[in-house]
Amino acid sequence: MGQEPYVEEYTIQAGDFTAIGEASTKFRATLKMLGIPSEVVRRAAVVAYEAEMNAMIHAGGGTLRMTVASDHLEIMAADQGPGIPDVALAMQEGYSTASDEIRELGFGAGMGLPNIERNSDGMNIETEVGIGTILTARINFPGQ
Ligand SMILES: Nc1ncnc2c1ncn2[C@@H]1O[C@H](COP(=O)(O)OP(=O)(O)OP(=O)(O)O)[C@@H](O)[C@H]1O
Ligand SMILES: [Mg+2]
Repeated sequence: MGQEPYVEEYTIQAGDFTAIGEASTKFRATLKMLGIPSEVVRRAAVVAYEAEMNAMIHAGGGTLRMTVASDHLEIMAADQGPGIPDVALAMQEGYSTASDEIRELGFGAGMGLPNIERNSDGMNIETEVGIGTILTARINFPGQ
């Protein structure tokens, strides 16, 4: 289509549990407004929510960005948290380092990263211990 991609970005505050899922909720509204197919909206909302919560819970906050192109969208979460020492381990269902306090809030099932993988058409994690993490996930639009 030759159009500029649409970009939307939010800051995620550390441990701000009054703002749970705020950025991903805004992304969902934007995608609906843009007329993106509902199945894509659903998958994008899952990916964005899990990435947002990981940045909030494990990394002291960060940035969540969505880029919508003509044939796909991309969600990126970037943080300057502790990094992930073993990505393959972190990707396993049920693996979590969440504290008891966090678990009492209903997080820490170790399902976030596997859910992101399941709901995207490709994800990538760039991480360095002591530096931070950048997660990107792509979702293709049907028929593309
Ligand atoms: N941005 C991040 N920075 C540092 N560590 C992270 C980050 N994202 C994930 N991790 C690590 O990977 C583990 C697994 O993440 P995942 O999202 O799958 O589970 P969880 O967040 O612990 O629980 P759930 O997502 O089910 O509430 C986390 O417990 C944490 O150790
Ligand atoms: Mg998680």
